[in-house]
Amino acid sequence: MSTEKFQKETYSKDMVRQSFDVAAQDYNQYTSLQRLIGDHLLLQETMQRQSFQRVLDIGAGTGYVTKKLSQRGNVNDVYALDIAQSMLNQARYHLGAGQATGFICADAEKLPLTDNMFDAIYSNLVFQWCENLEGVFSQAYRALCPDGSFVFSTFGPKTLIELKESWGKVDEAVHVNSFVAKNIIQRNLEAAGFKNISIEAENKVVYYDSPKQLMLDLKGMGAHNMNRGRRVGLTGVHAFKAMLQAYEKLRTKQGVPATFEAVYVVANKNCG
Ligand SMILES: C[S@@+](CC[C@H](N)C(=O)[O-])C[C@H]1O[C@@H](n2cnc3c(N)ncnc32)[C@H](O)[C@@H]1O
Repeated sequence: MSTEKFQKETYSKDMVRQSFDVAAQDYNQYTSLQRLIGDHLLLQETMQRQSFQRVLDIGAGTGYVTKKLSQRGNVNDVYALDIAQSMLNQARYHLGAGQATGFICADAEKLPLTDNMFDAIYSNLVFQWCENLEGVFSQAYRALCPDGSFVFSTFGPKTLIELKESWGKVDEAVHVNSFVAKNIIQRNLEAAGFKNISIEAENKVVYYDSPKQLMLDLKGMGAHNMNRGRRVGLTGVHAFKAMLQAYEKLRTKQGVPATFEAVYVVANKNCG
């Protein structure tokens, strides 16, 4: 998919903000996958070996990763930034006193931060909701110190492939969020000026009791369909049942599978 097409099909920013504002209260019940991916991100070598004066966590959510960053011996100050104020309120509640230096309610596409401020910018599963990847990456580039590291995860195009295929048996409407491929991420990072880019992906398969359970889970984590091209109004009961029946055919002994393609990225603002 081209960058241009991706940008036309993606999300309404207000919907993303509202969706996560609503999900904030119960969000931590639905986060085992995000935590697994966040933990993997924290193991990236860049984070292991250097020391950091200031680190920014973009899309901090309820603060799981912010907290882990703040507990690292090699990190001094950690800032949590999120577009949804309710998420930041939860982060403030879950982080003990002094575990984050600042909480910033802002859009990753318009960072209200001065240039060259952070030694590292960190972000777990956020940029799949961002309309303008080059804009987000340019903002991160600007806010990073020379030689600063940009470490993030996002979802790749194989994510929710079973749900997409099951809906595909029913109609042609957009029922599932679109996720960008590694080459588009690479291109947008290069356009923003990043160097030494490493991108890896792994598929994680989660088994659910039923397709409905998966959809409740997606809603609980604020990740239900938010594409602009989604069908407005209620999806017909008949169509929904047909999708559930198609999905049921994928059932294994462990339950119905849902693939999540975790994409891990490390890049540097290498001004040398
Ligand atoms: C799936 S949650 C991940 C939260 C957290 N990073 C974690 O690992 O648990 C995505 C978060 O990104 C935030 N978000 C989405 N779009 C954003 C944007 N454009 N700017 C800043 N935050 C955004 C949402 O409000 C939500 O808290």
